[in-house]
Amino acid sequence: MNPKLEIEQLKKEIERNNYRYYVLDDPRITDKEFDDLLKKLKNLESQHTNLVTPDSPSQRVGGIPSDAFEPHPHSVPMLSLDNVYTPEEFRDWWARLEKNLKDETPFEVTVEPKMDGVSLALIYEKGFLTKAATRGDGETGETVTANAKTIRSIPLKLSAEKFPVPARFECRGESYMFKKDFEELNRRLAKEGAKLIVNPRNGAAGALRQKDPSVTATRPLRFCAHSAGPISEGLKIQSHSEFIEHCKAFHLPVPNPRYQLCKNADEVLKCFQKWERDRDSLPYEIDGIVIKINSFALRKTLGFTSKSPRWAVAFKFSAHQVSTQLREVEFSVGRTGAITPVAKVDPVECSGVTISSISLHNFDEIERLEARIGDTVLIERAGDVIPKVIRVIKHAANGKKISVPKKCPSCNEPVAREKEEEVAWRCVNLSCPAQLERSLLHFASRDGLNIEGLGESVVQELLQKKLVSNFADLYDLTKEDLLKCKLFGDKKAENLLSEIESSKTKPLSKLLISLGIRHVGEKIARTLAGHFKTMEQLSKSTEGGLLRVPDLGPTIAESIVQFFKEKKNHELIESFRKAGVNLNEPEQKFEKGMPLSGKTVVFTGELATYSRAEAEELVRRLGGNPASSVSKKTHYVVYGPNAGSKLKKAQSLGVPFLTEDEFNKLIGEKS
Ligand code: IVH
Repeated sequence: MNPKLEIEQLKKEIERNNYRYYVLDDPRITDKEFDDLLKKLKNLESQHTNLVTPDSPSQRVGGIPSDAFEPHPHSVPMLSLDNVYTPEEFRDWWARLEKNLKDETPFEVTVEPKMDGVSLALIYEKGFLTKAATRGDGETGETVTANAKTIRSIPLKLSAEKFPVPARFECRGESYMFKKDFEELNRRLAKEGAKLIVNPRNGAAGALRQKDPSVTATRPLRFCAHSAGPISEGLKIQSHSEFIEHCKAFHLPVPNPRYQLCKNADEVLKCFQKWERDRDSLPYEIDGIVIKINSFALRKTLGFTSKSPRWAVAFKFSAHQVSTQLREVEFSVGRTGAITPVAKVDPVECSGVTISSISLHNFDEIERLEARIGDTVLIERAGDVIPKVIRVIKHAANGKKISVPKKCPSCNEPVAREKEEEVAWRCVNLSCPAQLERSLLHFASRDGLNIEGLGESVVQELLQKKLVSNFADLYDLTKEDLLKCKLFGDKKAENLLSEIESSKTKPLSKLLISLGIRHVGEKIARTLAGHFKTMEQLSKSTEGGLLRVPDLGPTIAESIVQFFKEKKNHELIESFRKAGVNLNEPEQKFEKGMPLSGKTVVFTGELATYSRAEAEELVRRLGGNPASSVSKKTHYVVYGPNAGSKLKKAQSLGVPFLTEDEFNKLIGEKS
C-alpha cells in the first residue's frame, strides 16, 4: 500500500481507538493491539519522516523538556466560580438570578458534576490542537502544550464528522485522574521508592507541570471540557447544551454526557442529592456540582462580578472529613454483653448530616488513637457510611484518659475480658437488662424474625413493666398486657400481637439468627438449618458432627454445643414448641424459569431498598445463589454507593454490573 495512505489509515484507527477507550469508555481492542498499531505507525513514519504531522498519535510524546513554561495571556480571562454550601445559600443564589432575570423568565440551567482536578484551556486552530495552557492567575497561564498532548483523551485533531470545524475553537476544562489510576500510579511510585502523591487532584496538577513531557506521558491523566472559551465566528453555539453537543461531536470528552437541564431550584436540589449520593461510586472525584445558565444570551445579561460569573455557581458537597472536640465517652452494652465505647463530640456537619455520637468500637481502638477527653479529633463519614474517628489532630492540654469501666453501666455487675487475647470487655451478668434489651431487638430485627413494631421504646417499656424477661415471653403477651403500657392503644396492640403471631411461622434459619448464638450469623444459620433441618437434630449435635458440616470451624462448633448445654436454653426451646413456634426448615424448591434461576449474584456497596440479608434472601427466592466474592462465574454484580473492589473486579473480569434499580428491573420486583 502507498505509505502515505497507510499512515493516514493507521492514524485514524489509533485515534478512533483512543476515542473509544478514553471518551466513550468502550474499548474494542486490547492494550497490546493498540500498542502494536502505534509501533507500526512509528516504524512507518521513521522510514518516511516527511509524512510526520503534528496531529499524529506518535507525536503525543514529542515535546522537548524545558525549564520554563511560556506565559500564555488568556484572550478572555479564565474566571473562577462562586461557591454555595447549603440549600439555603443555593436558594438565595437562585433568588438573585430570578431577580436579575425578571424580564427573561422562564430560564434553564445545566447541572453537571464539579470535577476535582486542574483547569486546562485547549486551543484548536483549523481543527488542530495548537496550544494548551493552565489557568494561572486567570489572566495569564502557562503553556503546557507538549504535556497536554500526552493526554490520550484529548484529540489532537477535532473530528469534523458532524459539524464544520471553526477556524479557532477554545474549550476549557479539567484535567484529572481516575481514582483507580491514581492508586495504581502510587503503587508504581512506591515500588520505585519515589514520593507518593496525596490525592488525584495533586497528581493531575503535578503531572501537568512536569518539565519533561515523557514523564507526563507516564501519568494517567484525563481531560473533560466544561466551558466554552473564545470561539471564532462561523459556529452557531448559543447555549451550554449546544456547546456540549459540539464537544461530543468533535470527540472531546465532557464531564458527564448525561448533564441535566433544570427549570427551578427544587429540581437542582434533587440533582444535588443524587450526585452527592452517587459521588463515591463514580470512578473520579467530584467535590460538588456546577450550575450554569444554559442560554449564552442570558449569560450576557447577567455578566460578571470581578472574579466570577453571575450566571454560574458551584454547589459544593460538605466535606467527608471534619474536625471536632471529643467531650465524653459513654459505654453501651451489646446483646453479648460487649461494652462499646461511644464518643460524644461537639455536633458537626459531615457529608450532609449532623454528627454528635460516634462508636469507637473497642478499647484497643482508643489506645490506637491515643484519644483523651478534650482532644480535637478528625472524623470521617463518606456517603451513607457510619462515621468514624480517623485520628487525633490535637491533644488537649489536660486531656482526661479514657479507661475501661470496672462496672457495667446498666446493671453495675463487673466487667471482664473472657480471654486475654479477646478484644471485647463484657458485662459478666447474663441477666443484665441492657443485654436483654439488645437481644430482644435482635430477635425482632429484619434479619431475625422480623417483628415489626417491636422497636427500642416498646422493648424498653415491656422490660420495665416486667412483661417479658426472655424471648419466649413474647408469645405469652396478651392484649391486656400491652394495654398496660403507655405506648399502646387498641390498634397498636393488635398489630404487634399479629406480628408476633406470624413470626411463629418463620423458617428455622431465621429463628437461629434471632437467637443470637455467638458466631452464628446469617450464613451459618442457613447452613445449620439446611443441614440439620430441625431444632431437635441440631440441639443433639456434637462438636465432631458439627465439624463435618461444610463451612463450620471449631469456634462455631464449640459455641453451638455450649448454647445447647445450657438448661435455660433448653427451657426456652421447649417454650417455643409449646407456643407453636416453627422449629423446622422447609425444603427449598427452586423452579426453573425463575428470574434468577442458576444465577450467581454478588452485592457490593450500600443498597437503598434492601438490607444485605434481604437482598440475598430475594436472590434465593428467585432461584439464584448469592455469593460474597466475584469470579468469572458470577453472573451479576449489583452495586450501590461506596462499592469497593468487587465492582472493580467485575469490571476487569467483564462480569455484568447493575445498579440497584437495574437489578429491580431485571427481577421485575420494583421499578
Ligand atoms: S465551569 C467561569 N464546570 O471548578 C468558570 N468548572 O471552582 C466556568 N470545574 O476553575 C467553569 N468542574 O476548573 C465548570 N463542570 C464544571 C467544572 C468546573 C470543575 C472547575 C473549573 C473552575 C473551578 C471553579
